[in-house]
Amino acid sequence: MEIDIKFFDSITSTNEIAVQNSIKDKEFTIYLANYQTKGRGRNNRNWYSPPGENLYFSFILKPKIKTSLLSVIPILAGYSVLKTIERYLKGKKVYLKWPNDLIVNNKKICGILTEYKNKTVIVGIGLNINSREFPELEGNVPTSLIKETGKYFDRLNILLNFMKNFKDIYQTFLKFHEINSPILKEINEKLYLKDKIVEIKFKDKSEKGIVNYINKDGALVISGKKIYAGEIIKIEY
Ligand code: BTN
Repeated sequence: MEIDIKFFDSITSTNEIAVQNSIKDKEFTIYLANYQTKGRGRNNRNWYSPPGENLYFSFILKPKIKTSLLSVIPILAGYSVLKTIERYLKGKKVYLKWPNDLIVNNKKICGILTEYKNKTVIVGIGLNINSREFPELEGNVPTSLIKETGKYFDRLNILLNFMKNFKDIYQTFLKFHEINSPILKEINEKLYLKDKIVEIKFKDKSEKGIVNYINKDGALVISGKKIYAGEIIKIEY
């Protein structure tokens, strides 16, 4: 598998640099950092990115698909991280929180920030691997592979496994223009907050309903209504 990895010991944010280079870069160019000084999360949050501990990377995609299908890509990226890490977390179920957070033990282990610029999709992944301590943050409490298993993990090995998983899943998606049904079935088996009442916020609008499922276009169906973008902000158990 041919992939081009651009490695930085320290960088502001791999997403920021990938966005700047998005026109000239080829598909699957990866920006990987040992440390991010301004790691970015969704909705203007920071992403905790201490040196040497976790994976912080962004990669470039140039899919030839209609714009309405772009929201599938973050879900496929989240699912590929799930497939990559579940083998290390034997006995602990990994959940996908729509659209693309990964949750273990009710705590967030991975966040994904997807941007779309110049007909390019930039997928930025922060996967907590070897951090034992985290600053207090709003929203989901963080966790990491080391916290859940007590074991130290090789970051590059995990990155390469992820890219292999993602490439296969992404290429199948490009062929059929929808999430293929065995994958969709598994995504829905691992859907966080399924059957729970949630509130989803997008810009200044919000919707409340019961989480039903993710459909083949990547929309979250809550109380029968399709939601294409937003963030689950409130949960009633
Ligand atoms: C989230 O808020 O859940 C998304 C977090 C995304 C963090 C990753 S780390 C690598 C890439 N570079 C960034 O600045 N952000 C993403």
